[in-house]
Amino acid sequence: MARKLAAGNWKMNGLKASLSEATALAEMFPAPKVDILLCPPATLVAAMAAALDGTKVDVGGQDCHPRSSGAHTGDISAEMLVDAGCDYVILGHSERRADHGESNALIAQKTIAATMAGLAPVVCVGETLDERESGKTLEVIRHQLSASLPDAVDFDKLVIAYEPVWAIGTGKIPTLAQIAEVHDDMRETLSARYGDDEAGKIPLLYGGSVKPGNAPEIFATSNVDGALVGGASLKAADFAGIVKALE
Ligand code: G3H
Repeated sequence: MARKLAAGNWKMNGLKASLSEATALAEMFPAPKVDILLCPPATLVAAMAAALDGTKVDVGGQDCHPRSSGAHTGDISAEMLVDAGCDYVILGHSERRADHGESNALIAQKTIAATMAGLAPVVCVGETLDERESGKTLEVIRHQLSASLPDAVDFDKLVIAYEPVWAIGTGKIPTLAQIAEVHDDMRETLSARYGDDEAGKIPLLYGGSVKPGNAPEIFATSNVDGALVGGASLKAADFAGIVKALE
């Protein structure tokens, strides 16, 4: 049985004052029944980790470089995220695949780096609207899973997030049957590669326009173990509604 995880991705949002939303969330869940994660922009990672120290809310980065150090201006390594207080890192988000041309092969290298540093990688996959409409969704997701994940992973830490690109920030979500189809297929694909026991431990998150109102039905869907939430993770009250739906 996979653990349940409510993960918030603040993307390029948030200033120091926004940390009050993180601490307010932690105060609402002193003993949560599910895992809770916030991933702020890199500028806030260390400050958020300090503000949430001793609480039940974990902190993660939104990306890391495949190397541990070196001449890579503007990048940060998995070791640096650990040093700043992170337990997780989001990898291969569709916005990084699109904005920075990240390939599946690069994401696999980053996943290895994160795993070696002791971070839990949240590896993202998802089809575009064109791919969905041309009936290629399962083929695309299977290929992304196959090529973005290395053979050696830590099954107690690895997390997968299915985020249809066309559902991100749009207010549109797939039907529950479409979500179930992809999540069931992801579980089968992971089982075929890693074995039933190991694949069964991997939380499969859904991401894309998750709100407190639609979270209960999404979390009741087959093989959905949580959510990767963008916009609705910025305000403690909204994100709390999603966490409660998962509990
Ligand atoms: O990482 C989060 C996702 O991209 C979902 O974003 O909840 O704003 O649609 P959203």
